[in-house]
Amino acid sequence: MSTVPVAKPAPSSSVAAKNAHNIDSMLKEKRVFKPSAKFAAAARIGSFKKYEKMYKASLKDPDQFWGKAAKELTWFRTWKKVCVWKPPFAEWFVGGKINASVNCLDRHLDGPLRNKAAIIFEGEPGDVTTLTYQQLHREVCLVANVLKKHGVKAGDRVMIYLPMIPEAVIAMLACARIGAPHSVVFSGFSAEALKERINDCGAKVVITSDGGFRRGVALKVKRNVDEALLGAPKVKSVLVVQRTKQDVTMTPGRDYWLHEETQQVSSVCKAEPFDSEHPLFILYTSGSTGKPKGILHTTAGYLLGCHLTTKYYFDLRPEDVYFCTADVGWITGHSYVAYGVLSNGGTSLIYEGAPNHPEPDRFWRIIDRHKVNIFYTAPTAIRSFIKWGDEWLAPHDLSSLRLLGSVGEPINPEAWMWYYEKVGGKRCPIVDTWWQTETGCHMIAPMPGATPLKPGSATLPFFGVDAAVVDDNGNETEPNVGGKLVIRRPWPSMLRTIYGDAARYRKTYWSEIKGCYFAGDGARRDKDGYFWIVGRIDDVLNVAGHRLGTSEVESALVSHPDIAEAAVVGRPDELKGQAVVAFVTLKNGVQAGPGLKEALRAHVAKEIGPIAKPDEIRFAEGLPKTRSGKIMRRLLKEVAASPTGEIKGDTTTLEDLNVIAKLKQAED
Ligand code: WT7
Repeated sequence: MSTVPVAKPAPSSSVAAKNAHNIDSMLKEKRVFKPSAKFAAAARIGSFKKYEKMYKASLKDPDQFWGKAAKELTWFRTWKKVCVWKPPFAEWFVGGKINASVNCLDRHLDGPLRNKAAIIFEGEPGDVTTLTYQQLHREVCLVANVLKKHGVKAGDRVMIYLPMIPEAVIAMLACARIGAPHSVVFSGFSAEALKERINDCGAKVVITSDGGFRRGVALKVKRNVDEALLGAPKVKSVLVVQRTKQDVTMTPGRDYWLHEETQQVSSVCKAEPFDSEHPLFILYTSGSTGKPKGILHTTAGYLLGCHLTTKYYFDLRPEDVYFCTADVGWITGHSYVAYGVLSNGGTSLIYEGAPNHPEPDRFWRIIDRHKVNIFYTAPTAIRSFIKWGDEWLAPHDLSSLRLLGSVGEPINPEAWMWYYEKVGGKRCPIVDTWWQTETGCHMIAPMPGATPLKPGSATLPFFGVDAAVVDDNGNETEPNVGGKLVIRRPWPSMLRTIYGDAARYRKTYWSEIKGCYFAGDGARRDKDGYFWIVGRIDDVLNVAGHRLGTSEVESALVSHPDIAEAAVVGRPDELKGQAVVAFVTLKNGVQAGPGLKEALRAHVAKEIGPIAKPDEIRFAEGLPKTRSGKIMRRLLKEVAASPTGEIKGDTTTLEDLNVIAKLKQAED
């Protein structure tokens, strides 16, 4: 390790003392991109003034705003009260009766949408299947009737463990149709993870498949279910979709082929009305510690949130082909592959496999082949594309794209610029959407035809969302002073509780800042009120009295032309409190070396200041990520703090165990 300049001592001025618990923000991004006149002219919200006016009105009288918006959904009975708020428990559209599957399907069957594609599916081997709204409706009714045949009643939980195939959406809507809350588990999760979730929610039916195709192999999905069920005795039936036709073990009396079962039931399944607050699904989110939390969402409010944000943020039109790359196992797959897209009568393109199979241009090939108009992906994917090289885009015509989305973590300004120029051809707005499993739908994001964009900022809140950055006492921080990101009033698509653990719900989300929802992110607002997420509060570094968000240091590293990806963590340091340790991966073809380390330190010093200069830089082949692509900083902290690079922590959610083995060898 080379010497680092001795840090200046912790500042003791009154300003610093006052901000002791705030986060110092150093990254300054100056670029601004206004919506093009052409995009604005056709958009639903075509000027910033219109957004501001609607936003102000929505906060002034939320009941009026949400009540009016909710009329866009189809109801069996209208609500009596828009919101009943007994903190921290909310009920929305109380007294209303609704069915989510009717909103996603039946209501489109009387008009021109009937024969339009609801789902375009491309399998990894290249097979394409299209389901019109009419066809999707029929499939959903059949599966709903199969569920009933297997004894599923309103309120019963159904587990869905499926790869990215149309049956995943069909299964979700079939559950919604009969009021059985679904719980989708990402099909890449282990048997152990599946078992734990089945038992936590007490599911009695599992919908799965023989497998799915990923990187050219048929995954053994059913085998994981068999293993999980050894420890989940309450499951009565397993319904198996045939996708790969590989051999699987079928346990008589428990396991049934879904395509055989659907032959035995009627294709008519009347949709029942359910209370607005009827549970729609439970989705487990791991968090960094402790047992997974079963996030509970209910019907009407969730659906309204998905419907409106899809309509306004993606400006989705029936003629668009919309491609979201998220798996149905995550909230993005629930809200923006299924519910929000279908309730708007959109066309959702679903792709089964890996982005680099058979080659790293698969997504560009799909966009070209299906003439995709709206593309929604994650910064981690964008950084992979950059790493793989621009030459993979060149042969493909991406001119059908008109809007790009980003979700999952702060998008580094350099990745933003690449996405904007190389994928969007400088014509597509980038809608950077900040939200969470818990929030159900987008909370902070730019209106594509209205909000001037700043690379790296999720910009401003959605209608009715009272977002703020506050200090520990709940007071709003000054511009550019970091603090905690909170939401100060309830919103329709908020989680209702943690399934079976209301005390944990209260403690996790509603106890940090009085009267506010807090789910762990640090942020700052700039002088224009734009939100900049600086990372998870738990990851904030404290370097010689300066509190630095990880994402700013990472963005500075990624803005160096040789760097593909970076993760920054703190290591205990006697002198400074914490030292900055950076794990970086290089772009293809770049050589690591001591010269590069010095160059990177100098680069960070120039971009955000000497205080953020990494004390240690490790070149890694890959970074440890969860299966949804989030960097596991907890593991990196352990690697950074231990002289031998040992880690003892839980690695069950890790995508690739080899990464850790390689990290230990990564030389400093
Ligand atoms: C956490 C939520 C929301 C669906 C996918 C992830 C981070 C998400 C952004 C963004 C900065 C973001 C936050 C948030 N995050 N989107 N656009 N900019 N950070 O859902 O697994 O529940 O994770 O992801 O830290 O709290 P999730």
